[in-house]
Amino acid sequence: MLQSQNPQLQHLLEKMWRDYSTLNPSAQAIHDLFVGQGEKVLNDHVAYRTFNHPRLGIRSLAQHIEKYGYKPMGEYFFKEKKLYAQHFESMNKDLPKIFISELELEKIEGFVAEEVDKMVAQVPDALIQSEEILICGRPWKMSIEVYQKLASVSEYASWVAAFGFRPNHFTVNVNALKKLHSLPLINEFVKKNGHTLNSSGGEIKGSAAELLEQSSTMAKEVEVNFTDGKLKVPACYYEFAKRYPLPNGELYNGFIAKSADKIFESTNQKK
Ligand code: NI
Repeated sequence: MLQSQNPQLQHLLEKMWRDYSTLNPSAQAIHDLFVGQGEKVLNDHVAYRTFNHPRLGIRSLAQHIEKYGYKPMGEYFFKEKKLYAQHFESMNKDLPKIFISELELEKIEGFVAEEVDKMVAQVPDALIQSEEILICGRPWKMSIEVYQKLASVSEYASWVAAFGFRPNHFTVNVNALKKLHSLPLINEFVKKNGHTLNSSGGEIKGSAAELLEQSSTMAKEVEVNFTDGKLKVPACYYEFAKRYPLPNGELYNGFIAKSADKIFESTNQKK
């Protein structure tokens, strides 16, 4: 599914998929449906979420992919959600891009930064310096009370608080599919097989004119253990991305902030 010449990077990407598909069996199910159609499933990108805390911001996560030759290629600003993001690319175009976003703590209610400080203080330096941080899950204690308080201000903050560091989503590279080669075809196929799509801002975000179209499932709830009990909360979603060529004939490899803004809502709790 993922092809790297570097066995260590290959192993890391496989561990990311294993963590993600174990937590989200519906992503594995959709992946397997595509394979059942004779498709070869490549990944367009894998996304991570964090906070712009000095110990655990984008840089802290990115160092572990940069050592494999990934380079920062684009940056994105999400004013309303108070997020900043960068995407990283490998020279090997068969490898997924890595999209990392961080919550801008100084722009949000003070208690969020206070809670994040308490969370990050529980993460050992040795873990931050190891690529295991990318698949470690939640490295701190979290209560339902704090989770819900964070969710009332930022769904994004509460997702990271509950799940920690692990892929937030994988994204199918639609350009590499033969039969299911358009988002309308994929969306119908996925819905027909019983999955719910994120319809915030329409099922398809972006357009051919913007050089990128995206759609995604809504994250299914999973039961999470908190210090004061168990609670079902939305986990991860599966995304589909189709890219269009630039005037020079190369596919556009960036992201559209306006579309990503809506895609972030795929992990929102049901209102
Ligand atoms: Ni994405």
